[in-house]
Amino acid sequence: MFTQLRYFAIISLIFVALSAGLASVGFRNVISGDLQSLVNKQNVSIAQGYSNSIWAIYQGVLGKLFRLPDIDRWSDYKEFSQFDAASKGYFKNISISGVSLYSRGGKLIFSNKLGSLQLGTILPEKDKELFLEAIDGKIASNLRKGVAHIDVNGERSQKSLVVSFVPLFLPVMDKSVIAVLKIENDVTPEWKRVIAFQYISVGSVVIIFLLLITMLIVSSQRAEQIISRQHEANMELMAAAASAEAESQDKSQFLANMSHELRTPLNAIIGFSEIVLTSPDAKLIPQHKDYLRDINGSGVHLLSLINDILDFSKADAGKLEFDIADVDAVKLLKNSMRLVIPRAEQAQVTLIEDLPPKHFVFQTDTKKLKQVLLNLLSNAVKFTPPGGEVRVSVWHDVSVDTIMFQVKDSGIGIAAKDISKVMSPFGQVDSALSRKYEGTGLGLPLSKKFVELLGGKFNLSSVVGKGTTITISLPRIYNKP
Ligand SMILES: Nc1ncnc2c1ncn2[C@@H]1O[C@H](COP(=O)(O)OP(=O)(O)O)[C@@H](O)[C@H]1O
Ligand SMILES: [Mg+2]
Repeated sequence: MFTQLRYFAIISLIFVALSAGLASVGFRNVISGDLQSLVNKQNVSIAQGYSNSIWAIYQGVLGKLFRLPDIDRWSDYKEFSQFDAASKGYFKNISISGVSLYSRGGKLIFSNKLGSLQLGTILPEKDKELFLEAIDGKIASNLRKGVAHIDVNGERSQKSLVVSFVPLFLPVMDKSVIAVLKIENDVTPEWKRVIAFQYISVGSVVIIFLLLITMLIVSSQRAEQIISRQHEANMELMAAAASAEAESQDKSQFLANMSHELRTPLNAIIGFSEIVLTSPDAKLIPQHKDYLRDINGSGVHLLSLINDILDFSKADAGKLEFDIADVDAVKLLKNSMRLVIPRAEQAQVTLIEDLPPKHFVFQTDTKKLKQVLLNLLSNAVKFTPPGGEVRVSVWHDVSVDTIMFQVKDSGIGIAAKDISKVMSPFGQVDSALSRKYEGTGLGLPLSKKFVELLGGKFNLSSVVGKGTTITISLPRIYNKP
């Protein structure tokens, strides 16, 4: 993108330089036209002045003379030297760089320049075109640039001249052109100014544009650097995230392996302690029987803890497998409640079923959802003081086609600040009140994870001292996430 920008900048610089050049050439042409016509007008008025004075006086006298074909003989006449002197006198005080008078035949009759020019010299080739126009009775002029010039000191230079050819008539009635006055006017300084202005304007446009483009290129380079640095930083962050992800996967894998290894000996401990306890042949003193019951109870507790850890790490590593089947929501809830009835009775907590008469079937993993419901129910019973109640309900939200489960207790509640804590693994509210309850702190995060992996939402709202409500919503039709 930035490369394109740079190309564009360079191409537009070329365009700007070209168009500035073209514009200035156009401008120069206009100015040269203006300059030429201005100076030409001046030349014409000089010529008219001459025509009205010197020329008008001598035309009659010299009329015959001018018609003579042999121009060399003109100077022999006394009238001619008077005419010559009068003409020189006229042009003496006028600031023009040169004036020459040519006969109709193109031969020099008079010149204010001394030396090199001789009477009778034939008109230079370059003047022919304009001269012929003047012979036709028109005033013709042009601007000549770079005309070689040698001044009185012999120094060479180049001059710019406006050269005008003005026809002179003889006599007034006749209207035929008898001679042509060539007036040269030096416009070197004016022309130099035009050229300088042209260079300055083109140059400044190009320089300003060049500056702009340099700024553009520099800032685009800077932007490019910033972007590439950002890109590098992003790549680093991505790499860090990937390695963190891998690390956490490793940890989850390790936990899964560990838990699996621990379950084997634990099953032996639970199984054999049970066998000994229930065996009629075992001769145990009552104290040893108590020890064995402790061993068995601890084993069962440890196993459930390990199972939770295993599930959690599996879920975290994305290795949990789901067994989706059609399930009767009401039945599932009833089955789960049955398992907490003894605990509720013991805790003197009333279990209230708020179930619809209609049964509805939906797709989910029965075992996992039952584990979730048991977690929620046992928490509700565990954290509700004697005399309290736990209300359980299920319904089908037809508008979004989801199955809703709700477990609502009138227990101790959870403070808003503690909610994120209890939702994270091993997080428990460490208050004197809840410390008296046993647990591992894995129930809620695991339940939330299961619900989410089943495509549902988990919502907890609670007020300290008033109770806790947990609502989960699951899609009726399971979609693999
Ligand atoms: N229904 C509830 N009422 C009040 N506190 C609760 C309730 N459910 C969970 N808690 C709080 O959240 C913590 C985490 O719960 P959980 O993840 O199920 O772990 P555990 O039950 O093993 O402590 C509990 O220790 C308790 O402090
Ligand atoms: Mg729990």
